[in-house]
Amino acid sequence: MSVRRLAPKELQPASFAFSEETLAFAKQQIAKYPEGRQASACIAILWRVQEQHEGWVSEAAIRAVADLLDMPHIRVLEIATFYTMFQLWPVGKKAHVQVCGTTPCMLRGAGELIEVCKHRIHHDPFQLSDDGNFSWEEVECLGACVNAPMAMIWKDTYEDLTKDSLNKVLDGFASGNPPKPGPQIDRQFSAPAGGLTSLNTPMAKGEGGPPASAQPALTDADAKKPSDAANRRESPAPKPPADDATKKGNM
Ligand code: FES
Repeated sequence: MSVRRLAPKELQPASFAFSEETLAFAKQQIAKYPEGRQASACIAILWRVQEQHEGWVSEAAIRAVADLLDMPHIRVLEIATFYTMFQLWPVGKKAHVQVCGTTPCMLRGAGELIEVCKHRIHHDPFQLSDDGNFSWEEVECLGACVNAPMAMIWKDTYEDLTKDSLNKVLDGFASGNPPKPGPQIDRQFSAPAGGLTSLNTPMAKGEGGPPASAQPALTDADAKKPSDAANRRESPAPKPPADDATKKGNM
């Protein structure tokens, strides 16, 4: 991991003021913790401050959060520089692209995605594109390895990317009409690309219902519905009859 430093003085705004919404959120977070433990709300507040502040935290914002929480400035600076989810330099106004460069994504083509970012945004990570709308960085595993290679933009992940589909995603952000997050190929979540590869044996005669392979693909809403089998599994165990001879005391 590279050293994480605050942006240079010339990029730092002179001050930071909480918006009404951010302040209300901060108070709500602080109220969750016992008196004297308000520092526990630091990460949540820093995150909201980053959202308010065009996707990055400035030195002034770090000081403002520390003052609000009655913490030494250095403590909040330590948190902001430790967690890589906090951006310390200005990021693209329309998209900051975080390309996963860990092994599964790299083996599946993350290098090509990085080339797209270098070519289209800036040769170096954390630098703004000429119009100031885009920036990029390489990050460690974002937990969607099964759909590698992938990239995260703001809070969403774009998966199963290729050079072309990443270009399309970036076109979408540039035009203010980003594509649907998730896999950018025809598959549901992390189900096998190209159709079922298991549980697709035709049912024996008498088992009823068409074979799994002949059933229509599940929709996102279907996937969240518990099946009959799951309902039976989860239902409470039946109580024994009142005069059950196996009950304690009857033996
Ligand atoms: S390796 Fe890229 S998401 Fe895990």
